Amino acid sequence: MTVAGLMSGTSADGIDVAVVRIAPGRQRPRLTLLAHEGFPYSAALRRAVLAAMNAASTATAELARLNWRLGLAYADAVEETARRHKLRLDLVGCHGQTLYHQPRAESYAGRRFACTWQAGEAQAIAARLRVPVVSNFRPADIFAGGQGAPLVPLLDYALFADGKRGRVLQNIGGIANLTAIPASAGSDAVIAFDTGPGNMMIDWLAQELFGKPFDRNGALAGRGVVLEPVLKAALKNRYFARKPPRTAGREQFGREYAAEFLKACRRQSARDEDALATATALTAESIARSYRRFVLPKMKERAVDYIVSGGGACNRTLMSMLWRLLVPIGCTVQTSEEFGWPAAAKEAVAFALLAWQTWHRLPGNMPAATGAVRSVVLGQVMYG
Ligand SMILES: Nc1ncnc2c1ncn2[C@@H]1O[C@H](COP(=O)(O)OP(=O)(O)O)[C@@H](O)[C@H]1O
Ligand SMILES: [Mg+2]
Repeated sequence: MTVAGLMSGTSADGIDVAVVRIAPGRQRPRLTLLAHEGFPYSAALRRAVLAAMNAASTATAELARLNWRLGLAYADAVEETARRHKLRLDLVGCHGQTLYHQPRAESYAGRRFACTWQAGEAQAIAARLRVPVVSNFRPADIFAGGQGAPLVPLLDYALFADGKRGRVLQNIGGIANLTAIPASAGSDAVIAFDTGPGNMMIDWLAQELFGKPFDRNGALAGRGVVLEPVLKAALKNRYFARKPPRTAGREQFGREYAAEFLKACRRQSARDEDALATATALTAESIARSYRRFVLPKMKERAVDYIVSGGGACNRTLMSMLWRLLVPIGCTVQTSEEFGWPAAAKEAVAFALLAWQTWHRLPGNMPAATGAVRSVVLGQVMYG
């Protein structure tokens, strides 16, 4: 089957589309990447998405329109990808844009529950392309007692599980998350959780201090000096002490948190580049500490491939910090590109595979990763 996956993450930078051929294998499905494309959101759409993510309250009409507008953007993106690469699609998996994710139960209108919402009217894709579309992947896992995230471990396991080497798949999007697969481990031994901030604070500081949407290649951070007292204080954040499974979002490392962080940098009368260097070091340190504390003790073998994907893999300052922290503790640090999977495409590939699973009535969540009590078939299908 030729399946397109669409992902737009917490960075709210745009839509990644990947098209893969998926064939059933003896133990795990076999995947071949046929194409991938990135479509940045227009400035107006990005503003609307960020406003809805951060809002304490939003008008109903605003949310309904945004939901529809995103669906149109998804349809445009997948149609354009198919056209450019002359591909006929059999199925589409659309993650949507998370506007709200509350993995822990809270009280509302007399009931306590966890909930999540990925916006983007996927019917727009089914109607435009006349192909079946799977969307709304996360609720099934939450109703099975999980956190609804992460869902990418299924792909990580299918692509990277290895008989001899331990593997860590580190994605650095807005939030950074990892999937660890000990050598020759079954899927029930997979460890997956959000390590903490990825690019989210870096992006906010780049915008606030330099008027740029992100720190291209980490050039700004590369000119700065890490403010050790600020870094040390930031690492005391309670999130970093929490045991997995754990998930993070803008609630933890969004605008308010970044603004406080900047104030702390300013108290050291730092240059603007130093604030960026320190935020970049916070991402690197929180990744390395997460690995040392929660993963390394479970990796029986000493040699581990640490494979980085997501937009953060393009940040050279961040990558060299990771290198300095992880190589001495036995990791070979690489990007997913070196394994044939472009860093920007991997999460989109995951939603192609998840759609394929659902289409075949196969489960998509990994209880070891999400904390669900059972594996379940995810999402809803529109028949186009
Ligand atoms: N060339 C680059 N240099 C530095 N950072 C980059 C580069 N390209 C992308 N990024 C970062 O990656 C982010 C997008 O990564 P992505 O994996 O799409 O995250 P998400 O899943 O949260 O949308 C951007 O916001 C930016 O911070
Ligand atoms: Mg993105």
